[in-house]
Amino acid sequence: MKLKLEYIYVAAIVISILQLIVFFTNLEYDVEGWGKNSLRNLSNYVSEVNFQIIPYDFCQKPGMLLIFVCSAPQNAEARQAVRETWGSNKVVLNENVELLFFLGNSLNASVQEAVLIESEKFNDIIQADFSDSYYNLTIKSTLMLQLVSNKCLDKYKFFFKIDDDMFVNLPKLVKVLKEQNSSENVLLGKMMCGTKPIKDPTSKWYCPTYMYNGTYFPNFLSGTGYVMSMDVTRKLYNSAMTIPFIHLEDVYFTGLCAQRSGITPNTLFEFSTGYVDDNSCDINHLITMHYVTPEKMRNVYQRIQQPEFLGKCSQYKSVFEPIAWIRSTLFIPPARWKRKRIC
Ligand SMILES: *[C@@H]1O[C@H](CO)[C@@H](O)[C@H](O)[C@H]1NC(C)=O
Ligand SMILES: *[C@@H]1O[C@H](CO)[C@@H](O)[C@H](O)[C@H]1NC(C)=O
Ligand SMILES: *[C@@H]1O[C@H](CO)[C@@H](O)[C@H](O)[C@H]1NC(C)=O
Ligand SMILES: *[C@@H]1O[C@H](CO)[C@@H](O)[C@H](O)[C@H]1NC(C)=O
Ligand SMILES: *[C@@H]1O[C@H](CO)[C@@H](O)[C@H](O)[C@H]1NC(C)=O
Repeated sequence: MKLKLEYIYVAAIVISILQLIVFFTNLEYDVEGWGKNSLRNLSNYVSEVNFQIIPYDFCQKPGMLLIFVCSAPQNAEARQAVRETWGSNKVVLNENVELLFFLGNSLNASVQEAVLIESEKFNDIIQADFSDSYYNLTIKSTLMLQLVSNKCLDKYKFFFKIDDDMFVNLPKLVKVLKEQNSSENVLLGKMMCGTKPIKDPTSKWYCPTYMYNGTYFPNFLSGTGYVMSMDVTRKLYNSAMTIPFIHLEDVYFTGLCAQRSGITPNTLFEFSTGYVDDNSCDINHLITMHYVTPEKMRNVYQRIQQPEFLGKCSQYKSVFEPIAWIRSTLFIPPARWKRKRIC
């Protein structure tokens, strides 16, 4: 008995010492693909990248709004749903709108082949020659801003980046953009204020100190979708060439690069990054919604055109719905990694 107790004491002391070592040496996990010693100068990653698929008439036709739907190569179904629903109109409130899909590479040869066929059929795909993965999203957005600021600066007034699992109420967005008084330094989306870097290595948004050493991030816009005046594409890209890489692309561009460029992000209350129930009148009042499957996209698009649905929702005022809140807070998995401090 005596002996056993001693073992326990020794074990406790050893564990405590290990904890102290971990604490004082600031031992941290690496971000996948971006360890402590990896080079974080973005110009080294994007200067030589080719755009292996690009529409033949890319940025030829002038318009008000250029939309890039960021999509992974294998998400053909999601792209088709966007084409058939909110992305189907090329003229919105008398303004020309151009929508293109922005992809990186897949290692899977049959996926690559399918993307090529899809692009020949629809002429709405841009594919850049880098490996498309979650931890490479900052590279993806850098390439996106590089291409747009090089080729489209004088062709459009606004540029909109959106993910392929988002539903967008395009007429509402175009209306908001038409009401903007300024055509410069506009950067709008769902703002996150006073967010701290997440130190839990199992989180999707894990950010070790070697990546970012501040206590708080600057205010930034959720990467699910943000819109900017055309000049901002060039300004953010130029800033990115001088700021060390962070794998959280929204923090990086709409937070750090915007700050360096002297641009203040602003929130649009109709931008939602949450799950919205198909039957809620919210679908008619929001500009963006998240976690939208292809099936749901078609459903929502139909509903917001039905006169009876619009009638039912015409008197609608946004209210706090406890059930919807519980559902979106507790049961939609990504929301559990609380990064949200929406403002
Ligand atoms: C490549 O993608 C196809 C279609 O998505 C899938 O069926 C196949 O299993 C994938 N192959 C590999 C090696 O992952
Ligand atoms: C990011 O892209 C580069 C270039 O394609 C590739 O070498 C690297 O493995 C990718 N990193 C991750 C984490 O996918
Ligand atoms: C534009 O200016 C008008 C008049 O000053 C103001 O009422 C309106 O709120 C402004 N719009 C935006 C989007 O800032
Ligand atoms: C924090 O990071 C910045 C930018 O990378 C660097 O200039 C600064 O020296 C770092 N501060 C500390 C205390 O490590
Ligand atoms: C990144 O590399 C480019 C070209 O090699 C260089 O001009 C630039 O100063 C570097 N930026 C940083 C932040 O090291």
